[in-house]
Amino acid sequence: MKTRYFELTDYKRSGVLSAGDIEKLKEAAEILRQGGLCAFPTETVYGLGGNGLDPEASGKIYAAKGRPSDNPLILHISCLDELKPLVSELPEAALQLAQAYWPGPMTLVLNKSELVPKTTTGGLETVAVRMPSHPAAAKLIELTGLPIAAPSANRSGRPSTTTAEHCREDLDGLVDAVIDGGSCEIGLESSIIDLSGAEPVLLRPGAITAEMLEAALGKRPAMDAALLGPLAEGVRPKAPGMKYRHYAPKAPMLVVRGEQAAGKLLELAQAHAAQGEKVCIICSRECAEALQERGAILLERGAKLPESEAAPQERGGVEGLRVRCIGSRTEEQSLARELFAAIREADSLQADYILAEGFPEDSLGLAIMNRMKKAAGWQVLEA
Ligand code: TXA
Ligand code: MG
Repeated sequence: MKTRYFELTDYKRSGVLSAGDIEKLKEAAEILRQGGLCAFPTETVYGLGGNGLDPEASGKIYAAKGRPSDNPLILHISCLDELKPLVSELPEAALQLAQAYWPGPMTLVLNKSELVPKTTTGGLETVAVRMPSHPAAAKLIELTGLPIAAPSANRSGRPSTTTAEHCREDLDGLVDAVIDGGSCEIGLESSIIDLSGAEPVLLRPGAITAEMLEAALGKRPAMDAALLGPLAEGVRPKAPGMKYRHYAPKAPMLVVRGEQAAGKLLELAQAHAAQGEKVCIICSRECAEALQERGAILLERGAKLPESEAAPQERGGVEGLRVRCIGSRTEEQSLARELFAAIREADSLQADYILAEGFPEDSLGLAIMNRMKKAAGWQVLEA
């Protein structure tokens, strides 16, 4: 299959969809209406879209992602009226949350109606629904007149995609089209709240934080067990996707957090480099500056360094040590936005070992650390 690329040139420049951009979205919407697949930008990550009411389209999504078909898909809508036909009941809590945070980076799990095929929900009686705020996503969904099933647009197990270039890496030749709307603003997948039972449960933390959910619901949602640590053998998580190794780089990864994180990262990097391994450190600007003083090479976003370039030994540097700064500790949004790109770059640099600085787990930090821990297979060191 030859993948078509639709670049939203005016949107990327100005943040506003032009008539020309909308023409491209119309072509993409037609592909979706015909049962094809199209990756598109959202405010969280890129989605791999297909007609959510067409079992054949869901089948194609699972195949393109290489994803097990028991892992349900999120249905994306463009206005609240589109929610009602998808669910069998609409609890008060759903309306409260929708009013507060839709359109936006929040997914609600509700009991499904007959209309939603079980192929979309991985056999479950519940359905996950989200109304994205990205103008291109909203316009595309509106133009199709359909609920659009869209998992993150990555091959299963890989980090989610936050640029069209990432989508090309993973899905070129596997999908009909990719819409290029530039980098995703948030960079982590939506918060998922299960409202299908008696009490609201947070299944996946995201940019709509536990504190924000509490503010709208009047009480704090419970945390799903899958958020707290690796699940015991045989335990089935509520969000089936949470059981798979996720966001995983090719190299083993370790998260180091605490007051002494920078020193510990350097010490571990030195030990691995001494074994001849190529080490990549993902950390805050504050930590990166401390490491740079010790001779580490700071990577630019998307940088692909020549093999021969090593850290200068005379400054006490560590050969092969690459540091990828994802933003300031004081600005969690930038850490979230850059994390998946940084993990993908460590892969493309063929790192043998990845070290990441950990962050406090409050507000957005909970979502950042959830993705980091999963990428690291829950390997966290306190320093
Ligand atoms: O931000 C996002 O949510 C992105 C963009 C594209 O909207 N989508 C996304 O989809 O992250 P995906 O498929 O990569 O992750 C969806 C997660 C999976 O862990 C899945 O198991 C869970 O949602 N999920 C979907 N339907 C569910 C349901 N009915 N009950 C419980 N969990 C569900
Ligand atoms: Mg995903």
